[in-house]
Parts: sequence; C-alpha cells; structure tokens
Amino acid sequence: MGHVYAVTSGKGGVGKSTVAAGLAFAFVKLNKKTLLVDMDEGLRCLDLMLGVDKSAVFDLSDILMGKEISDVVYSVDGTDGLYLIPAPSSPGMIDAYRFTAFAKKAAELYDTVIFDFPAGIDFSLYGCLPEGTLFLTVAVPDPVSVRDAAAVSGMLSDISCTSKLIINNFRCRLVKKKIFRNIDDIMDSAGLRLAGIVPASDELMLLSVNHRLKSGGRPMSAFLRIASRLEGERVLLPDPKKI
Ligand SMILES: Nc1ncnc2c1ncn2[C@@H]1O[C@H](COP(=O)(O)OP(=O)(O)O)[C@@H](O)[C@H]1O
Ligand SMILES: [Mg+2]
Repeated sequence: MGHVYAVTSGKGGVGKSTVAAGLAFAFVKLNKKTLLVDMDEGLRCLDLMLGVDKSAVFDLSDILMGKEISDVVYSVDGTDGLYLIPAPSSPGMIDAYRFTAFAKKAAELYDTVIFDFPAGIDFSLYGCLPEGTLFLTVAVPDPVSVRDAAAVSGMLSDISCTSKLIINNFRCRLVKKKIFRNIDDIMDSAGLRLAGIVPASDELMLLSVNHRLKSGGRPMSAFLRIASRLEGERVLLPDPKKI
C-alpha cells in the first residue's frame, strides 16, 4: 500500500494546490511513483499548473463511471513518475461509494497518492480515504488563516483523522518585523504538528506558466525536506532566513 495524503485548509487560496504539486515533484525526486488527484470539482487547476490541460480528455468522474485508472492518468512532462487525475469540470460528480473503491485501488497502484481537496469544511469524502491517510492542513502565516487551520484540525480530530500543518507563503522578513507571528506561535495556535514550511516565491507563483520547479531552488528544497520528513526521515528546520 502506498502512502496517502489529503491536502486541506480552512481558508481558500492559501496554496493547497501549489503545495500538493510541489510535494508531488518532491516525492518523484525521492523515486516514488506519485499520483496527484485534483478533488476541486468545477474549479480544477492542477491540469493547468502541471501543463497537461491540453491532453486531459478524461477526469475523475470517468473513473467513477467505470473507466480504468490507467486510461485517465496523465503523465506530467519532464518528470519520471508523476501522474495526474484531473477533477471533474462540474460539481456533484463524485459518488462516495465509488470514490472509496477508487481511493483504495489508487493506493495499491502508486507509492504516493496526494488528494488536493477544495477549501472549507465539507468533510463528506474524507471518510472515504484509505485508513492511515495523513491530512496536510495548509495555512499562510496570517492570523485568519491560522485560526481557520485550527478549526479544521479540531474537526479532523473529531472524525479521527490525523493531520499535520504546512505553513505556506512564509516570509522571514515579516516574522522578524513581528508583522506575522513566529513559527512556534503559528503551531501553537493551529494546535498541529508541523510537517514543514514553504517559502513565498515567484517561482511558485509562476508554476502555472512554467509547470516545473528548479532543482536546488528554495521551493524545491523546502518540498524535499517535507517529503523526506513524511517518509520518516529526521530533517531539521533550516534557519528561517534560509527557508
Ligand atoms: N509559496 C507561494 N509563493 C508565491 N505564490 C504562491 C505560493 N503558494 C501559492 N501561491 C499562489 O497563490 C495563489 C493560490 O494558490 P493555490 O495553490 O491555487 O491555492 P488553493 O489551492 O489553496 O486555492 C496562486 O496564484 C499561487 O500561484
Ligand atoms: Mg486548489
């Protein structure tokens, strides 16, 4: 069975899809055959972010209607082992019963499966994910996002889902000037263990244009640290100035 992750957040626009894509690149670098599943029905974006939008004919709803997973996965150019299943282009297409069977099968076929969920507190499909799924709650350092992450983490723990925090869009300068709270404060407020921190970066903002991340750049290094930690390695947080 592969490892399954579900990327979630309270507030929208905090970078879930960007983090899901960056983490997927990192898992591939760690030689994991990785499947990304866009769960944002009606508002999909990972096909564009990863540059497979022109070839994407089928989507998750086709699998749920009986198509083979292998007919609906799109290989991401420039990677060796990253595949995407686009979200349905309109809402209301995901049947919980069929989705449960699909998620289990996906975890059997891939080393790593990352589900990129929409923001908010519709948890109806979370219980359909395989046992052992780790939820990654993404927050940016502003107080509204952190409070929403805390709310989501509380609700996840109420339904016995384990989650960890990813802080995205981190700018050391704003923490140093005490405009945003420091990492310890954010973790305390969110009530979650930290999986890692992703820097604010133009490279990430431009992912939908370039469809890849530079090896050795700050974003890719941050994602590699997070992916390695999730794989069980002990990777220390760098000096915040170097994140
Ligand atoms: N670390 C980052 N640095 C710079 N821009 C980012 C970062 N993370 C996300 N973005 C930008 O923020 C916007 C929202 O990101 P997205 O991943 O679509 O969020 P969500 O999936 O939570 O709605 C996008 O324009 C994206 O390029
Ligand atoms: Mg998204």
